[in-house]
Amino acid sequence: MASVDTTIQLIERGTMPGQACAPELAEPPWTFDGIAPTYGPGASMFDVIPESAPRQGELPATYREATASELHHRILAAKETLGDRVVLLAHFYQRDEVVQYADFVGDSFQLANAAKASPRAEAIVFAGVHFMAETADLLSRPDQAVILPNLAAGCSMADMADLDSVEEAWEQLGELYGTSADASGRLPVIPVTYMNSSAALKGFCGEHGGIVCTSSNAEAVLAWAFERGQRVLFFPDQHLGRNTAKAMGIREEHMPIWNPRRRLGGNSPETLTDARVILWHGFCSVHKRFTLDQIARARTAHPEVRVIVHPECTATVVDAADAYGSTDFIVRTIAAAPAGSTFAVGTEINLVQRLAAEFPQHTIFCLDDVVCPCSTMYRIHPGYLAWVLEALVGTAERPSEVLNRIAVDDSVAIPARIALERMLATRPGEAVSV
Ligand code: 13P
Ligand code: SF4
Repeated sequence: MASVDTTIQLIERGTMPGQACAPELAEPPWTFDGIAPTYGPGASMFDVIPESAPRQGELPATYREATASELHHRILAAKETLGDRVVLLAHFYQRDEVVQYADFVGDSFQLANAAKASPRAEAIVFAGVHFMAETADLLSRPDQAVILPNLAAGCSMADMADLDSVEEAWEQLGELYGTSADASGRLPVIPVTYMNSSAALKGFCGEHGGIVCTSSNAEAVLAWAFERGQRVLFFPDQHLGRNTAKAMGIREEHMPIWNPRRRLGGNSPETLTDARVILWHGFCSVHKRFTLDQIARARTAHPEVRVIVHPECTATVVDAADAYGSTDFIVRTIAAAPAGSTFAVGTEINLVQRLAAEFPQHTIFCLDDVVCPCSTMYRIHPGYLAWVLEALVGTAERPSEVLNRIAVDDSVAIPARIALERMLATRPGEAVSV
């Protein structure tokens, strides 16, 4: 089966039927590095990008102009020379053209552990997005350099909650609830941040008795938080928060949305007093694309289909699916299914197409028939990989150099590690079937 990049090229050349959400996806990502800050083509292309989002400088011409085969040989040669000095981690949503070089491929929880378990590497090259590279920096040794091959690979959902707005929300909630614990010693509210957030927000959680979660352990983490608090302030993804809390039996009327642009997040004091989980107004534009109509169409076309989606999808989509869980849960469920199974998958297209290629004994397709990858994962390309790896190797004229280092300042890193270590100490819960 063709990779997502090849599929998009074929669609745009008119030699394959189908539709991509943006024809610009057929262009190499460096086309978008120089122009006004934007998430680039793909699912997040219409999201508002913060002024402060990191930008990527111009990729040298030798990488922009190299053919795919030249880049392939240069990456292999650099990796061979570097050996154990470098480890390459890739998220499941990365393009196949990058994943093929990875030493470890996984979901964000697994990659956080992989970063921790690579003590011999001097450099960790992270083929994922900015918050994942920050997390790798937090969990690796101080002398290990974490490298994000393209600094424009952010995450639009992570950008929907910034430290100032969360501090403002915290202050307002503090005025409303006070700070005293109840008779059973539980504080009024515990902050929980999804892994998909800046290190600054992880640090905020570490400082305020809170914790980090990923989609593979959100339920265990919320249980941890409810042992210590009467309520949870959950950011930035409202859908992961809502889906997890619903699975734990919390009713929707006890999950108000917090809109950071409005006083008390747009809620009455009574609503916030009754709240169990206050959901930040954030979402993932990749997973927002999945709909009930797509599920109905999949069921009509394939009556035997199992619909399996990521918990960043809306609650209506999750409720209508047969199963939901983290990317790792999706992979494991498909791997364990009897031959001849049919799956309609609601998650990022690079993972879905890779699964379809890896498990030819099944019928596997994406719920959304428009090809629309994550805009920021798309910003990593073999050209940038060759660039950072060859810089690490160095030449006779140019000493070895670390490019695009992601380093979290100690003032943030120390509390952020506390919140991450709390998470790593909770047992990841199994994803829930519905
Ligand atoms: P996982 O935590 O399942 O890897 O998901 C990360 C992500 O970015 C999903 O959009
Ligand atoms: Fe962020 Fe969504 Fe992309 Fe994941 S898929 S990195 S949450 S924009």
